[in-house]
Amino acid sequence: MSADKVIEEKKQGQALLTENKEGNHKKLFIESYGCSMNLNDSEIVAAILADQGYNTTHLLEEADLVLVNTCSIREKAEQTVRKRLEKYNAVKKINPTMKVGVLGCMAERLKAKFLEEEKIVDLVVGPDSYRDLPNLLEEVEAGRDAVNVILSKEETYGDVSPVRLNSNGVSAFVSITRGCDNMCTFCVVPFTRGRERSRDPKSIVEEIKQLVDNNYKEITLLGQNVDSYLWYGGGLKKDFKNASEIAQATAVDFSHLLDLVAAEFPKTRFRFSTSNPQDMSLDVIYTMAKHENICKYIHLPVQSGSTAVLQRMNRQHTREEYMELVDNIRRILPDCSISQDMMTGFCGETEEEHQETLSLIEYVKYDFGFMFAYSERPGTAAEKKMVDDIPLEVKKRRLAEIILLQQKYSLYNTQKFVGKTVEVLIEGSSKKSDAHWKGRNSQNATVVFPKGDEQIGDFVNIYIEDCTSATLLGKRI
Ligand code: SAH
Ligand code: F3S
Repeated sequence: MSADKVIEEKKQGQALLTENKEGNHKKLFIESYGCSMNLNDSEIVAAILADQGYNTTHLLEEADLVLVNTCSIREKAEQTVRKRLEKYNAVKKINPTMKVGVLGCMAERLKAKFLEEEKIVDLVVGPDSYRDLPNLLEEVEAGRDAVNVILSKEETYGDVSPVRLNSNGVSAFVSITRGCDNMCTFCVVPFTRGRERSRDPKSIVEEIKQLVDNNYKEITLLGQNVDSYLWYGGGLKKDFKNASEIAQATAVDFSHLLDLVAAEFPKTRFRFSTSNPQDMSLDVIYTMAKHENICKYIHLPVQSGSTAVLQRMNRQHTREEYMELVDNIRRILPDCSISQDMMTGFCGETEEEHQETLSLIEYVKYDFGFMFAYSERPGTAAEKKMVDDIPLEVKKRRLAEIILLQQKYSLYNTQKFVGKTVEVLIEGSSKKSDAHWKGRNSQNATVVFPKGDEQIGDFVNIYIEDCTSATLLGKRI
């Protein structure tokens, strides 16, 4: 296969590579779509399969086993995966013994239906069932259908040490919670990833220690809703009130966890994703202020600037409460950057409600954002009880308006860095030029500067001379 072809594979779904484990002869091609959690889960899957004799490969054509970790968040994400299955189908014609498995949210949503709908698929494995992969592969070898989509109250993969795939050796993800209990009416995640569980802080610290010992410099703590992290000995968060007094008294919440890891690893940068405004406490903001090594960046999805829309979405806060939270962040962490997720054209969204979203963007002046048109998902409360009544052209027009406004504020925010010096962690070569490094500052802005004698993984001070809406350009001082 040509180099171009390999790069194309990587772009599409981030095909994953890793070092070989000695003695392993079978070849696994694994690729991930969707969120960072999926990427991290693929690393867990690669670790589980490394013990079953599989090394990863980036060549689809030579794989014994192809796994695709899927996303269901919007219809388009599912269509992308279906297209990918067509490609596997073509490859299977030249490599007929190749087995194909679907992992992740689509596996959970469609279950055994997948085997009927897509003849190419041999196994279907939901996000809490990866430990069962060795058994499921045996079933496939024996010519039987293999499906496990049972969601768990306990599974956190706390003791699995992920194989770091496609890693730059500098930044890594560490999962701290799984699932989500928030039940936003538009969202499929609570159905595909199950109830919320938190991971034992001891196993989180152990995993970070391993990464730090291996020279990783930046850790992102991951969860669908990190602010509701709560460890009191295991089990579901909703059962906390029935836990013993001792368990309640010694419970670790997200601000404690942040404080703990930032103090234990003072030379390591910490980030976290994602925060839900309704669960973010002032304690978290104060903990960020206390530790220099916690990056001053908060991804704070809001979806809409209208309280009425937020109510229809079952988001547990109003526009005003969100603005108050932003005011508190600005007061306690004046240098903190804030980004958003917004969704246009949710059921019944009026022109006035859309204007409220625009005015919220103007109020917060977000550093950047991820913006989407609402896509109805089967099984959600919105699909069952509301009407997806905003025409696609209107959704798209509103989306274009919020993207345009966001771009204005992205540039406004990057311009604020011009003439200042920022600390950058070097992550690799710039995509556009091999003569430049790229990295990020604490606020998560991408910084590009000419290469000197630095190395990947170094922290360097960069004087910012120019910018675009997405990138800071500077030089070493
Ligand atoms: N708390 C999660 C949210 C996951 S979904 C997190 O970790 O980010 C990510 C974003 O996708 C949401 O914030 C929302 O803006 C968008 N999204 C979710 N469901 C959607 C839908 N049905 N249609 C369009 N966008 C959606
Ligand atoms: Fe989805 Fe809302 Fe949870 S967006 S992931 S249900 S916080």
